[in-house]
Amino acid sequence: MSVEKLVGDAKIVAVVCNQFGDTGKGKICDYLAEWTDVSIRATGGDNAGHTVIYKGKPKVLKNIPTGILREKITILGNGMVINPESLCQELERLEQNGIEFNKESFMISEKAQVILPCHIHRDRERYQSPEKGGIGTTGKGIGPCYGDKVTRIGIPISYLLDKIRLTRQLDKIVKNYPEQDLNKEEIIARLQPFTEKIVPFVEDTVNKLHEYIEGGKKILIEGAQGLALSIEHGTFPYTTSSDCSIDGTASGAGISAKAIDLVLGTIKFPFMTRVGGGPFPTELGGKESEEHCLTPGLEHDIFYEVNEYLKMSLDLEKIRKLQTERNEVELEKEKEKVKKYIKSHREKIIELCNSDNQFEQGVGIRLAAMEYGSVTNRPRRIGWTDAIAGKYAVRINRPLKLILTKVDCLDGVKNFYLCNRYTNGKSNNLEFRTDEKFLSGITPNYKKYEGYDSVGDAKNYEELPKSLLESIKDFEEIVKTEVVAVSNGPKRENILIK
Ligand code: IMP
Repeated sequence: MSVEKLVGDAKIVAVVCNQFGDTGKGKICDYLAEWTDVSIRATGGDNAGHTVIYKGKPKVLKNIPTGILREKITILGNGMVINPESLCQELERLEQNGIEFNKESFMISEKAQVILPCHIHRDRERYQSPEKGGIGTTGKGIGPCYGDKVTRIGIPISYLLDKIRLTRQLDKIVKNYPEQDLNKEEIIARLQPFTEKIVPFVEDTVNKLHEYIEGGKKILIEGAQGLALSIEHGTFPYTTSSDCSIDGTASGAGISAKAIDLVLGTIKFPFMTRVGGGPFPTELGGKESEEHCLTPGLEHDIFYEVNEYLKMSLDLEKIRKLQTERNEVELEKEKEKVKKYIKSHREKIIELCNSDNQFEQGVGIRLAAMEYGSVTNRPRRIGWTDAIAGKYAVRINRPLKLILTKVDCLDGVKNFYLCNRYTNGKSNNLEFRTDEKFLSGITPNYKKYEGYDSVGDAKNYEELPKSLLESIKDFEEIVKTEVVAVSNGPKRENILIK
């Protein structure tokens, strides 16, 4: 199962998601981090969350690539948007875990843009809540920050070192958003403690990256979010604000996509997920599920679902209070209890997965696969893997090789399905298009497969159950791209390479 078998003689490798994000890129990147010398994040900010098992425990990285856990050279690329406060918290947590980094091993691109409190505020006010016409963003200020970058009033991180240029840009922001009633001095004062911590790491990372490449170092570029969420190629306006395709990812690192030797694309299989609003043709439970998962506030998260569907008696009121107070430490403890309970109630979960009611089936898969946002705790919307949407993503990202992830999560489920065609009454073979209106007018067609067991125990690719192998073959035929590995568990060694 060596990394070399997967990577071959490639020197520059990228990992990008071909769905709506959350396809387990973090784990694949962690697997590759053993191989790489340099690991680089290219786009997005702390809206992403990579879950990695480190020293037996899950760790969520939001801004920093997983390579830092293996003490590799780690870069935050020019295409990123960075909330200094959240980055500092992440760095502190790493330090508390005994992970060492210094100016030689950790760098932040001088061009990455700074997320300010006013970006977060604007995001939460305008774009987060579907009730207020928002699309269900993560509320981290991502869109407003990229917006200010595009209109050239944003703040590159290097400006934190340069009072004159910082002030000039802040003047523009203050002027541009009078309704926010911003105070430049207050913003600078709020940034100050974080500025001190991160400024030593600010670098011209683009030239550094090319020095590493020319010096023969192995490079891993970690994509963020997924193709279907890309501002360029995703289901606009229900997208994030960066280009999550391989081209956007390469650009956000400072190289050409052509220079990348191997692109590995992740696809969740045989179910997929989406967080936030927007079209999702194969969603189990359709509109009911979308509304349930999008309900703002604290009503429909993991605690609610475990209480409601698995009958775990929880003090929901106490949990709500912890959530309102943002008491992360106590909440983590409650979450641990919930996770234990979920593990010991697999039978009930499988029952839900096998339900005749599609909404319940979705809840079952969500619980079986623990599909709750690693950043927001929101329940992820669940559907069967959509090979037609997959084909679209692969067309844009290729040449690439695919890794199917989370296959073990459906161990024990009676049947599973693959969407292999879109029809609309007139045509039986439509391609995926990102337009919401188009997608609401199509009917997905499914092929049914017999469920499987013990995929989590498989030690090599050939050992995978027949029905799963058949579905993978069908998928490969539709997307016209090879699946080279299957991830069959959360640990780094749970990867079966073809
Ligand atoms: P934003 O990136 O916070 O602006 O959110 C825009 C859309 O992208 C929302 O639907 C989010 O739920 C979604 N999104 C952003 N980051 C992620 C991610 O890492 N995984 C899955 N969905 C994401």
